[in-house]
Amino acid sequence: MRIIQIGAGFWGGGWASVIKNSPWTELVALVDLNEQTLHTVGDQVGLPKERRFTSLTEALKVVDAHAALVVVPPPAHETVAIQALEAGLHCMIEKPFAPTLSAANKVVEVAEKVNRFVMVTQSFRFRRGPRTVKRLIEEGAVGKIEAIYGRFRKAPPFDGFRAEMEEPLIVDMSIHHFDYIRGIFGIEPDYVRARSFNSSWTWFKGNASAFVEFETKDGTMISYTGSWTSRRPHTGWDGAWEIHGTHASILWDNNRVLLYPQGNIIGETVFRARTLEKDNDILEVPLEAVDEEERWGTVKEFVTAIKENRQPETHGKDNLRSMGLVLAAVESTKNGGNQIDFNEFYNKNIKL
Ligand SMILES: NC(=O)c1ccc[n+]([C@@H]2O[C@H](COP(=O)([O-])OP(=O)(O)OC[C@H]3O[C@@H](n4cnc5c(N)ncnc54)[C@H](O)[C@@H]3O)[C@@H](O)[C@H]2O)c1
Repeated sequence: MRIIQIGAGFWGGGWASVIKNSPWTELVALVDLNEQTLHTVGDQVGLPKERRFTSLTEALKVVDAHAALVVVPPPAHETVAIQALEAGLHCMIEKPFAPTLSAANKVVEVAEKVNRFVMVTQSFRFRRGPRTVKRLIEEGAVGKIEAIYGRFRKAPPFDGFRAEMEEPLIVDMSIHHFDYIRGIFGIEPDYVRARSFNSSWTWFKGNASAFVEFETKDGTMISYTGSWTSRRPHTGWDGAWEIHGTHASILWDNNRVLLYPQGNIIGETVFRARTLEKDNDILEVPLEAVDEEERWGTVKEFVTAIKENRQPETHGKDNLRSMGLVLAAVESTKNGGNQIDFNEFYNKNIKL
């Protein structure tokens, strides 16, 4: 698949190398407003100078492509993606999809109109830890999930657009974790409450720590705490999760997945396939063998889906609800942690 990549900054540099080196894609052009960035990354991946452009408009005049990869800061996603779609390209767009639900929905609507696919690159979903947890839940190992406790702690030295955002943690980071709630744990929250705050030593203008709660109408409770200015100990990028169900609980932390069965302990520990008995009745679940992880898995899914003429996992329309959870949490922080009725919020904001 011939791809034009727009954005060659911090994350785009790595992306260019994935697109250049993956067996399914060809990097046919690189676009960045900043010439220095453009040429640094262009040189790194060995892209000829005539394939480097400072605007998508210029690239589209010269290059023949099947798809675009949008890796510019979130406020520019909508404009760049719509330009690419209207030029007939399928689109991969970095998370977070767009700053508002209506902007993200506009991209989905244009894609439907021009009959092209849009995927939001929720690359975390394509890691072996979440794949393993997803399989266990789908197999019914946990039973009905009643409580989830999630924790995320890091202290990345980000500057640039993240340092200026109002809610950098919730919007730029927790989108991955809120997308896990839907795409990995299979829960669609009905209510959202959130508080956000900053440490005295923060290097972000906006709040880089948050307490967020989700709830479903049938009583599943989710508690999530996150920080981008955390003192140690830190978690992995996936965060650390306890998932408690009627049948068992899962502890997922640092790429280790443990299953704690309830009830028929002997039956469970002896007969559950693909698990190792540890510490009496605790089962360690070896991580799913995933051929292509993270961004590589994302690209493979995008290319395969288009070949099969189906929506890719994490397609734009599906991502609207993950993005909605993020924006509902932000809305709640503005009102002292008030409960947001998610469906009401979603239906109202998608049309604004
Ligand atoms: N999936 C992940 O884990 C992950 C990790 C990091 C970043 N990201 C996402 O990737 C995106 C980019 O982040 P980044 O850290 O690379 O940002 P960045 O600021 O480092 O780079 C963005 C680049 O886009 C260029 N740009 C801006 N507007 C443009 C336009 N209209 N046309 C062409 N070029 C334009 C800028 O000159 C800059 O070089 C964001 O959406 C971010 O959230 C995702």
